[in-house]
Amino acid sequence: MNELRNRPIRSFVMRTGRMTAGQTRALEELWPRYGVEYSPQVLALDEVFGRSAPRTLEIGFGNGEHLAALATAHPERDYFGIEVHRPGVGHLLMLAETNNLANVRTSTHDAVEVLREQIAPASLDEVLVLFPDPWHKKRHHKRRLIQPPFVELVASRLRTGGVWRLATDWEEYAMQMLEVLGAAGSLFTNLSPAGDWMPRPEERAPTRFEKRGARLGHGVWDLAFQRI
Ligand SMILES: C[S@@+](CC[C@H](N)C(=O)[O-])C[C@H]1O[C@@H](n2cnc3c(N)ncnc32)[C@H](O)[C@@H]1O
Repeated sequence: MNELRNRPIRSFVMRTGRMTAGQTRALEELWPRYGVEYSPQVLALDEVFGRSAPRTLEIGFGNGEHLAALATAHPERDYFGIEVHRPGVGHLLMLAETNNLANVRTSTHDAVEVLREQIAPASLDEVLVLFPDPWHKKRHHKRRLIQPPFVELVASRLRTGGVWRLATDWEEYAMQMLEVLGAAGSLFTNLSPAGDWMPRPEERAPTRFEKRGARLGHGVWDLAFQRI
């Protein structure tokens, strides 16, 4: 009972989505090549990727189409994706295999714990959080990822000059992101000259949730903050 009461508030609930045969096979066969197991120990990322290159971490990559597109377009960079939804991870692995990507690795564990326990301070060049679950209902706002403790955690893992890019299709969450990151003025500078939103990056292939938002008539708010 105590254990239940002390459960951390997570930014996700495990969705039960069915795995396709291809995703199941990809997880079984490709995990040894691309998967990073969770353990509460700092990873040597140069060893994980087999080289030292600029590193992007994407949190909550969904089905991984965006991550795979970036990794294909930028073979000179390394991409670490974290996603708890296993069918999405299977999908990313299929894309990694099809595109013969050597610069992708993935974890299926809670990104908050991975960042805290496995990612060394000042070891990332870029962090992406695209269309995170907005947790619309007020009583669920505590589950939102973008809150002051998480901002401090991400800041500690980015190197000086590293950039955190975020996007959402939920206006009120966009305002929260701007407020929380804006309040971390000793850690981050807003790259928007007007101090608010960035243009939508042309390079971003629309993600599944970005397309869904567009179908529902939502806007898109992009943010980018640089680590001081
Ligand atoms: C609304 S979806 C957006 C997916 C994708 N970025 C897109 O734009 O299509 C948010 C995703 O974040 C994942 N997620 C939420 N919290 C997470 C966490 N703490 N660690 C890993 N993944 C998380 C969820 O499983 C979900 O797939």
